[in-house]
Amino acid sequence: MRITKLNFEKKIVCIGAGYVGGPTMTVIADKCPQYKVTIVDINEEKIAAWKTDDLPIYEPGLLEVVKRTRDKNLFFSIDIPKEINEADIIFVSVNTPTKTFGEGKGKASDLQYLEKTAHAIVAASDSSKIIVEKSTLPVRTAEALEKILNSNAKGIRFDVVSNPEFLAEGTAIRDLENPDRVLIGSRETESGLKARQTLVDVYKNWVPDERIMRSNVWSSELSKLVANAFLAQRISSINSISALCEKTGADVKEISRAIGADSRIGNKFLNASIGFGGSCFKKDILNLVYISESLGLIEVAEYWENVIKINDYQEKRFVKRMLETMFNTLANKKIVLFGFAFKADTGDTRETPAYYVAKMLLEEHANVFITDPKALKNAKIDLAEYGDRIQYVEDPYEAAKDADAIAIMTEWNLYKELDYKKIYESMRKPAHLYDGRSILNQAEIKEIGFDTHTIGKQ
Ligand code: NAD
Ligand code: UGA
Repeated sequence: MRITKLNFEKKIVCIGAGYVGGPTMTVIADKCPQYKVTIVDINEEKIAAWKTDDLPIYEPGLLEVVKRTRDKNLFFSIDIPKEINEADIIFVSVNTPTKTFGEGKGKASDLQYLEKTAHAIVAASDSSKIIVEKSTLPVRTAEALEKILNSNAKGIRFDVVSNPEFLAEGTAIRDLENPDRVLIGSRETESGLKARQTLVDVYKNWVPDERIMRSNVWSSELSKLVANAFLAQRISSINSISALCEKTGADVKEISRAIGADSRIGNKFLNASIGFGGSCFKKDILNLVYISESLGLIEVAEYWENVIKINDYQEKRFVKRMLETMFNTLANKKIVLFGFAFKADTGDTRETPAYYVAKMLLEEHANVFITDPKALKNAKIDLAEYGDRIQYVEDPYEAAKDADAIAIMTEWNLYKELDYKKIYESMRKPAHLYDGRSILNQAEIKEIGFDTHTIGKQ
């Protein structure tokens, strides 16, 4: 049967087939078989990969849902104008990285991809549509989008709705299927409220109404930046305390447990670590800092900037500790990074602390080896400029052979279950183990013979 718009109640298109667009639309397609969902992208290779079983991103459970929906009501395409024109609702899920040039360089969001998308929508549309901001954007972006979209001479109207995404990588499918909340912000005009309700009706297919929050469009845009800033702030807070623990004999895990039991604080996001990574925390806080600075709110900007400063400090502190406990020289020592992804259960390496650690180790002239079950491909791309100064080894046992030190960078379950006695025996002595994620039982590791150092423990 030829699949046309007529067979479906609604046609949803998503521009951007990345870590957000891909999983989000796949779950919408799965939960709403009555809608036709198409994901488009300018990256032809990515779209081609979405059509195979070797998806462009690794996300637990994603392939199963893609297989259930692909070519039934979920489609991937590079014919962007055609898909835009047929759509009733267009989600915009393009990347919004930190600007690397000009005004706001290093802090502001680079909105060029978003703007191009807006112009593409205007050019390709012959009818009115709802445009959904799925990308994370600076507050008041909807105003700029409306200006571009509604300055068309075709007499068609676009309503812009903000619907930020809160999924975390590694748990994206679970987060999308069972979200804590869905936030939908719109203009509070008659057509704005109507557009908001249209989107509410999409989510109502599987999300209970009390979890679908409605707000004005600016609150929705800003809530996304604030949510990420608060999450990252908790990590920087506990990481700052980990430094104090290492000097005093207090154990940061025991502190997390003690404070997390207070229901006003809660126990999530209190794991001290090598630092937070990922494509968004740093970018979104920098954006918040830039917006605050632009509005003359210098104290606000400085407050949030410190969350990032503590994160940088944490990465540097980790390497400094390695240096100090390996007799102040790492030159020609073989150091193996266990994990390169920014967190477990993803192959994503954007802003991973392991990247900065690897660079600092190279500056100390160490021989760096990297192992990771899902992120080696990205690691090789990220560190390409260092050529064969870095070795990539799939098998952690193989990687650890003749090493002077292991540094755990990612909390993969795999690294909790290895035979560390076997690893110890294959290493040079003294064998050092630096647990940047606090995932191993330090007493047991010490008992084997390792010289061991854990984040937040003396
Ligand atoms: P991504 O880089 O994985 O995907 C973005 C995609 O957009 C790319 O495939 C790119 O080719 C495509 N694109 C760019 N310009 C385009 C254009 N003009 N036309 C068509 N396609 C275009 O990025 P991502 O991680 O999916 O993030 C997207 C947005 O979602 C960002 O604003 C990010 O802050 C936000 N976000 C990300 C996450 C996450 O976990 N990664 C979570 C919540 C929100
Ligand atoms: C984060 C947010 O959790 C999502 O809600 C948000 O949608 C997303 O950013 C986004 O906007 O991109 P994500 O970056 O995928 O999701 O992953 P997190 O689980 O938040 O972890 C981020 C970083 O913090 C990782 O490097 C992780 O290892 C680290 N982390 C997390 C800690 O160091 N300690 C913790 O207790 C928790």
